[in-house]
Amino acid sequence: MLKNFWYALEFADRVGRDPRKVTCLGQDFVLYRTEAGAPVCLSDLCVHRGGALSMGRLSGDCITCPYHGWQYDAEGKCVRIPANSAERNIPRKARVDSYPTLERYGMVWAFLGDLPEEQRPPVPQIPQHDDPSFRAVQYEMVIDANYERTFENVVDAAHTPFVHGTSFGNPVKPEIPDFRVQQTDWSAEADIRLSPPPPKGLWGLLARRRPRPDYVTVTNGWYLPNIVKLHVRLPIGDMILYDFNIPLSQDRTLVKILGYRNFFTGAWADANARKRIEKILLEDRPVVESQRPELLPFDLSDELHVRSDALQVAYRRRRAQLIKDGWWVDGDDIITGDVPRRTATVIASPARRDNPELASAWVHKARTGGEPR
Ligand code: FES
Ligand SMILES: [Fe+2]
Repeated sequence: MLKNFWYALEFADRVGRDPRKVTCLGQDFVLYRTEAGAPVCLSDLCVHRGGALSMGRLSGDCITCPYHGWQYDAEGKCVRIPANSAERNIPRKARVDSYPTLERYGMVWAFLGDLPEEQRPPVPQIPQHDDPSFRAVQYEMVIDANYERTFENVVDAAHTPFVHGTSFGNPVKPEIPDFRVQQTDWSAEADIRLSPPPPKGLWGLLARRRPRPDYVTVTNGWYLPNIVKLHVRLPIGDMILYDFNIPLSQDRTLVKILGYRNFFTGAWADANARKRIEKILLEDRPVVESQRPELLPFDLSDELHVRSDALQVAYRRRRAQLIKDGWWVDGDDIITGDVPRRTATVIASPARRDNPELASAWVHKARTGGEPR
């Protein structure tokens, strides 16, 4: 799992004035909005006795722990300890990590890491979001597999005729002609030619009278840390899925999807679009849940790669570099206290870097810096 990235944690319309618990990188967070509407993301672990802040209540822009009523502001600083008499100071150590947030493409994003603003990797562009010719649906499903397995599955064009029958490709012609990967530090994309499936169902109705092309181009791409784009050109229009593979833990993934289409853009076709996304995920689920080893190997040579795996190989190479740079969530980000097998993950937030003296006073230790180890 990679830290130091913007993670889309929740659909924005689910984040409001009721605290909402979300999980990512094995860590629990609480999301809420300030009175002015700005999203807030705090570590869900109260420093007093580990209560879940998400079970508490909001008071103005602060959240109150449900256990002993400690109150934290949006920066994660404790501003009230009810059991203390008024003249007692609040200890400086009484704070939780607060993560930078932004709201984009109908999602609330949080920066899970401690990099200063100018060093943070970008949030990917989703141009369809503000294009009025597109309509979006949201979908989500939990998969009992590692997020890198579910992530690689979506960029992988070669599995489609086997796992999805005629949904994208043609099982009679499963060859993938060579394709060129266009890569940046944070993304990779390729136009891949597939033999087209016979059109069917509601979406096939309009296409029936048109001649069937020899191939269709699908665009598959990944955007670090966990997003995959799948652009399918159907005879009646474009369908573009952005697939967010949120690591709940090492072996459980919450897949959230934004699905854009520029045909049948009325609300009446939303349920059908969602059903098609669900069908694809239900086909992928048993396959990715059965993969062994459950976690993606670190060494390229531990699995065999062929030409059509180029996008996944590009990902594994880039990930190896980031692991070297110290961006992998590992033992030093996980607090075990003195009780074996009772652990919680805590990712260091930017406040620790901004103020090293404060960082050393932090109760929930976490590795800061992201430097090579
Ligand atoms: S555990 Fe949160 S106030 Fe005691
Ligand atoms: Fe698939």
